Amino acid sequence: MTDLSGLSVLITGAAGGIGTAMAERFAAAGARLALVDISAADDLAARLGPQHRAYRLDLEDPVAIADTVAQIGAEMGIDILLNNAGLGIVFPADTTDVEAWDRTMRINLRAPWLMSAAALPFLKASGRGRIVNVSSQAGVIAIADHAAYGSSKAGLILQTRVLALEWAGFGITVNAIAPTVVETPMALVGWSGEKGVKARAEIPVGRFAQPAEIAATALFLSSAEAAMITGETVMVDGGFSIR
Ligand SMILES: NC(=O)c1ccc[n+]([C@@H]2O[C@H](COP(=O)([O-])OP(=O)(O)OC[C@H]3O[C@@H](n4cnc5c(N)ncnc54)[C@H](O)[C@@H]3O)[C@@H](O)[C@H]2O)c1
Repeated sequence: MTDLSGLSVLITGAAGGIGTAMAERFAAAGARLALVDISAADDLAARLGPQHRAYRLDLEDPVAIADTVAQIGAEMGIDILLNNAGLGIVFPADTTDVEAWDRTMRINLRAPWLMSAAALPFLKASGRGRIVNVSSQAGVIAIADHAAYGSSKAGLILQTRVLALEWAGFGITVNAIAPTVVETPMALVGWSGEKGVKARAEIPVGRFAQPAEIAATALFLSSAEAAMITGETVMVDGGFSIR
């Protein structure tokens, strides 16, 4: 089992489905957590143990990102950054909702870059820095109504590769995970009933992913054993994108 004792992990979107599963998995591996979200994650921090801390941050705010990451770095260091938070607004491409597009890009694409840049001094100091970005299958293949969301997640995959290239010399790896639908409470609302049955049937393994499966992939990419993997996007999609 991967042992992250003595390491600090910053998780964005920790108050939500996949982020909370990551928090539980990384805490079980012995890491100390900085749980970052626009919503309160204090109860989660308290539940996981006294060494963990919750921070309120709006990822749309570049100044707040710089300040909060500097504070976390000073208080506990940052060895691993999990850029998990994301916004899933979908709409047809002929609906030119500029604010929805811009908000999607600010949270899904700009924030991971700003978080990573702000964390860089601490990741360098770590000597075994890790960044894991949560992209999506929608960033790899075309899905109707996903022009904004898919573009943001495709951009995140390329961002992952550029940062991996620039920062490899510091012992930092940068990778992405591209899940299919993950059974979080919110996703299950959107993919309920007939729509959900049809979507599951289109996935070769016949089911959606569990939040714990995304967390386990992030844990592996964050481990010492994964030091040779960088710039990679790991599909966790039950084979949805292989055809
Ligand atoms: N659930 C899925 O089916 C699925 C599939 C593929 C990829 N993803 C990706 O996985 C990631 C996590 O998704 P989830 O399903 O757990 O989502 P979620 O909505 O359950 O949780 C997202 C978290 O991000 C936080 N957040 C949103 N905007 C924020 C902001 N401006 N500042 C700070 N925090 C903010 C929310 O408060 C929430 O706690 C996202 O990047 C999403 O795009 C999800």
